[in-house]
Amino acid sequence: MDFQATIDADGRIEPRDAMPDGYRKTLIRQIAQHAHSEIIGMQPEGNWISRAPSLRRKAILMAKVQDEAGHGLYLYAAAETLGVDRADLLDMLHSGRQKYSSIFNYPTLTWADIGAIGWLVDGAAIVNQVPLCRCSYGPYARAMVRVCKEESFHQRQGFEILYTLCNGTPGQKAMAQDALNRWWWPSLMMFGPPDTASTHSEQSMAWGIKRHSNDELRQRFVDMTVPQADVLGLRVPDDGLVHQDGRYRFTEPDYTELYDVVKGNGPCNQQRLSHRVKAHEDGAWVREAAAAYAAKKEARAA
Ligand code: 3HC
Repeated sequence: MDFQATIDADGRIEPRDAMPDGYRKTLIRQIAQHAHSEIIGMQPEGNWISRAPSLRRKAILMAKVQDEAGHGLYLYAAAETLGVDRADLLDMLHSGRQKYSSIFNYPTLTWADIGAIGWLVDGAAIVNQVPLCRCSYGPYARAMVRVCKEESFHQRQGFEILYTLCNGTPGQKAMAQDALNRWWWPSLMMFGPPDTASTHSEQSMAWGIKRHSNDELRQRFVDMTVPQADVLGLRVPDDGLVHQDGRYRFTEPDYTELYDVVKGNGPCNQQRLSHRVKAHEDGAWVREAAAAYAAKKEARAA
């Protein structure tokens, strides 16, 4: 079946199928930036592994950070089915020619931030990634199935951290409220610019890559999350929040902040990128050793 007929029939495009250059290009762009987000996203949380308040919390956080590395791996592998090499994608990340999610440019100031990231950031990721399990491009959709299973563990452990704090001392509850106040708006910005300003949505939706618009998913996230904040006894920092006909009306985020952070002016952009580049350089010997081992194995097999 040709490309358009497959898309019209809501079928799956596989790596060897003929596809328009634009389809290939936007998938490489989105999957690569998704993968970059996963590996940069390890930094804010990795920062608290050595400072977790108990061995149990440390073990859970280590497992989560390792999961994010794995998500990056699945996604770089999915991107490579489109004919790109992950080394080139990493070069583009390191040189600022490709992006990663704005959310990871904010600092994790207290332990409650680790709860807020799990609850809000991974919660937003689930809202965004579940529809991607039905993406028209096979390898991306399949990578998302396992990612989404692990994200729900991430979201639950974050909520549990905050639940513990909210049922602890007044100081702990205040720490949880402070984290919500700082992470609420950047989490809404994760879904991207408003539909009216989205450059790719229309085409991505026509190609079955994006199943819902940025604003639709943002609304879905707010509707899901506000009742959870009520269970925690925390106040969502939006005076405009109103529950009406089963939905929440909310104040639009300040998108100039999103554009500013994406441009590189967020609180942690420089630190995140230089840490990433250093980790890549420090890991060069591992890549060289693995390549030498693979070459030796191949020579022996020849
Ligand atoms: N941060 C950085 N850049 C963003 C952004 C954000 N929060 N939101 C939008 N952008 C960029 C887009 O990449 C695009 O720039 P580009 O042309 O240079 O790529 C531009 O702003 C216009 O936005 P559009 O809405 O037109 O772009 P998309 O159609 O690509 O929609 C998206 C943006 C919703 C993020 C979409 O790319 C997507 O669904 N990506 C896959 C999911 C993803 O990457 N999530 C990031 C977080 S990963 C994560 O949370 C992991 C979890 O384990 C914690």
